[in-house]
Amino acid sequence: MAPGAATQGFDAPRSGPIALVVGARPNFVKVAPLQAELDRRGLRSILVHTGQHYDPAMSDVFFDELGIRAPEHHLGVGSASHAVQTARIMEAFEGVVLAERPSWVVVPGDVNSTMAASLVAAKLGAKVAHLEAGLRSRDWTMPEEINRVVTDRVSDLLLAPSADAVENLLAEGYPERSVALVGNIMADTLLANLERARARPVLADLGLDPGGYGVVTLHRPSNVDDPATLDRLLDVLEHVARDLPLVWPVHPRVASRLGPARPGIRTVAPVGYLDSVALQADAQMVLTDSGGVQEETTVLGVPCVTLRTTTERPITVTEGTNQLVGTDPEAILHAVGRIRAGAIEGRRPPLWDGRTAGRVVDAIEGHGS
Ligand code: UD1
Ligand code: UDP
Repeated sequence: MAPGAATQGFDAPRSGPIALVVGARPNFVKVAPLQAELDRRGLRSILVHTGQHYDPAMSDVFFDELGIRAPEHHLGVGSASHAVQTARIMEAFEGVVLAERPSWVVVPGDVNSTMAASLVAAKLGAKVAHLEAGLRSRDWTMPEEINRVVTDRVSDLLLAPSADAVENLLAEGYPERSVALVGNIMADTLLANLERARARPVLADLGLDPGGYGVVTLHRPSNVDDPATLDRLLDVLEHVARDLPLVWPVHPRVASRLGPARPGIRTVAPVGYLDSVALQADAQMVLTDSGGVQEETTVLGVPCVTLRTTTERPITVTEGTNQLVGTDPEAILHAVGRIRAGAIEGRRPPLWDGRTAGRVVDAIEGHGS
């Protein structure tokens, strides 16, 4: 491409495909029902995989299990620093947008791929829809918070999962016409696949009894990047595991940082989506710092202990089964005790009903130019 050519941009043709951009594990779970809904309505979509996640257990398994079509474009960016990864995605995605001239670029979630693709699309004049807009942790040390705020700012259509997200957007001055409350797209995937997940033999394979174990997932830099912080968390988990066996599918970010095995804590490689749902669904509790897992446990009605001091998903606490406790050992053990005493109840938030993908497509189709 000639230098300068990319600065020209284009007027989004109404007939161009809808480009769905994915890169990391949670993106695949969010885009599966949307791709299927677009297919059902005969609307042409293309899938762009940035390659941010690339291990078969972090990527391929989701395509296989959720029936996501192979991406039309794979950017193959891989792992790197934030700046380099973001830059690689931007450079490669610019060519895709110029070649495909999408009518919309849909970016789910809050990962680097989300923000990078939204910036490219907005600068080329393509219309951008952010799926999962308006969530705010108000913690600027979280890379995802920067990604959320930037992506929302350059998006034309803000697809919010919950009323609190809509409130955040309106408080930040976004016009009501750009905001649509669509509900939680991960609930679509979960509800559609729960039966298949429950049929998996993963509990038996791991020797777990329904209701007799806990699940751990951890991957936030604030919890796992500093060895001393991770070690303190492992001490608390070991304490919990004295009374409740824990199974922990270890995210690749953490794998190389784990020391010797801890009694009662069974570490396994990252599991596929169906096994992740199966493990959560029959757990006595889940201890996590994952965004998606906070939501899935709320949909499943399974108690969740979130090992963070903030959450961008407060509705999982106010309405769902989540307790936000940070990393203080006393607070964690107190939360675990409340679960064991049967004190945690929750309900599924409005519009987390398995029909979000339909509302997303309605919002896209109904959005004026
Ligand atoms: C990313 C997202 C995070 C999201 C998480 C979901 C950003 C800034 N972070 O975090 O918001 O919650 O995905 O899981 O976008 N690695 C592998 N194989 C892979 C992928 C990663 O080994 O397939 C290892 C590499 O050492 C890599 C590290 O994990 O450097 C971190 O990967 P990266 O995508 O940068 O961030 P995540 O921690 O996965
Ligand atoms: N997940 C999975 N296998 C695992 C851990 C998680 O399939 O070993 C699923 C989980 O059920 C949810 C999604 O991955 O659907 C959440 O992704 P992750 O926790 O990596 O990212 P976050 O939601 O925090 O951005």
